[in-house]
Amino acid sequence: MAIFDRALVRLLPAVPKPVVQRLSSRYIAGPDLADALRVVRELNAAGKAATIDVLGEEISSADEARAIAGQYHDVLAELDAAGLDAGVSVKLTGLGLELDYELCRDNLEAVVRDASARGRFVRLDMEDSSTTERTLQLYRLLRDEGHANVGVVLQAYMRRTLDDIPGLHDVRLCKGIYIEPHSIAYRDFDEVRKNYVRALETLVAAGARIGIATHDEYLIQQAERIVREAGLNADRYQFQMLLGVRPERGDELVAAGHPLRIYVPFGTQWYEYSIRRLQENPKIAGYVAGDTFRRVLGR
Ligand code: FDA
Repeated sequence: MAIFDRALVRLLPAVPKPVVQRLSSRYIAGPDLADALRVVRELNAAGKAATIDVLGEEISSADEARAIAGQYHDVLAELDAAGLDAGVSVKLTGLGLELDYELCRDNLEAVVRDASARGRFVRLDMEDSSTTERTLQLYRLLRDEGHANVGVVLQAYMRRTLDDIPGLHDVRLCKGIYIEPHSIAYRDFDEVRKNYVRALETLVAAGARIGIATHDEYLIQQAERIVREAGLNADRYQFQMLLGVRPERGDELVAAGHPLRIYVPFGTQWYEYSIRRLQENPKIAGYVAGDTFRRVLGR
């Protein structure tokens, strides 16, 4: 990333919220469940499955956590009613992990039971390293209780990731987005890529179901090679991408016969998610400059 872009990435939190909202609109289905359902319907028509994420990691009370869980129950009911090909992804902080572990576990168990009754899948997103252990613990707890419709996420930038693989059945592998200390996470771009490939090979050897979550061309090609060499069927792996990121590449993966799932966030608490996506967009400097230019002209 060029110096100008990097400086802008650091300045993003100072950009006015309406500008952030405008720039990040491609990454978010909209404020309402109806927006998410519309997007999922379009994705399904293009041969892509989806996972719906209710935005809301900034909660501060048990009632808010219960409200997020309630929204997931609504999502599951609506997905069923509409017969759409989609599951859900949950952030445990949104279900109350930082407030009360038991509250989070109860909310999560209820969502997983509901999803199970409807034949739908629940993925536990992985957040910053302060939550890694508890997230894996809750995943294992649910699997031990017999819930086969639960999966977890591993982050290739974490040094612990290879050690976390044994015993996991269903893993989405991503690079990792949170800022972590060097002592526990790789920071170098190539080191993260190398660990991603190593983790992917280890997951294949371990017999796990794998979500290959990346838009990195090098990793996509490495994954295609690993999948081909291991002779994996479509029920053992899928590519996963974020809404609004490299959609044409997603089309190519589908055309090549790979299963693909798109992560579809919706909701009114869009700010944190939007900042993370904008920080990863290599064209962010141009977008911010263009938007500022248009606003100045508009005045
Ligand atoms: P990289 O960031 O190098 O991007 C590769 C290329 O993709 C870029 O060069 C650019 O062309 C394009 N690109 C990437 N981001 C873009 C953007 N925002 N706008 C425009 N173009 C963009 N992380 C985490 O910590 N916990 C989690 O649970 C998840 N869950 C998750 C689910 C799914 C389905 C995906 C795809 C990703 C995640 N992530 C995540 C995020 C992940 O850790 C990572 O931050 C991003 O995927 C970006 O990493 P890439 O592998 O895409 O590479």
